[in-house]
Amino acid sequence: MAPPMLLHETAEDTTVSGYFIPKSTRVWINAWAIGRDKSAWDEPEKFNPSRFLNEGMPDFKGSNFEFIPFGSGRRSCPGMQLGLYAVEMTVANLLHCFKWELPNGMKPSELDMNDVLGLTDPRAVQLVAVPSYRLNCPL
Ligand code: HEM
Repeated sequence: MAPPMLLHETAEDTTVSGYFIPKSTRVWINAWAIGRDKSAWDEPEKFNPSRFLNEGMPDFKGSNFEFIPFGSGRRSCPGMQLGLYAVEMTVANLLHCFKWELPNGMKPSELDMNDVLGLTDPRAVQLVAVPSYRLNCPL
């Protein structure tokens, strides 16, 4: 999986928003910051997935530059569909096979939903995965 900085190089001299960028300049596109831009998003820091249910919201496929988790254009992610299936399958299995509980009687409202860069956050609350009951199907 790629990090939220998209690394590109200009193929020719160009001007973007009044800035001249010569050919062969390495350009880092900060997709993380774009997705949190106050001029594009209402309460960008708020974890609110249902915002995407509203009509006219940007989708993630690369045509709406406010939200480019898979990049955009010719160098966008060719593994997008596989990535989407993989994430869905993983989350579905984790939800199907386990009950997720907060430790020590902690309330959901006390859970810190801030994200950090990296795969694990040492400050993160460790959720407790309780395997859910399964029927034994005779062979
Ligand atoms: C949820 C999962 C994934 C996310 C969020 C993701 C995201 C991205 C992003 C942001 C880029 C850079 C686009 C750019 O520079 O403009 C990228 C490139 C790429 N991704 Fe993914 N990706 C995912 C899954 C996958 C999978 C499953 C594969 C392959 C099986 C894959 C293969 C690639 C390749 C080969 C590139 C480089 C494309 C190029 O430079 O032309 N990605 N991806």
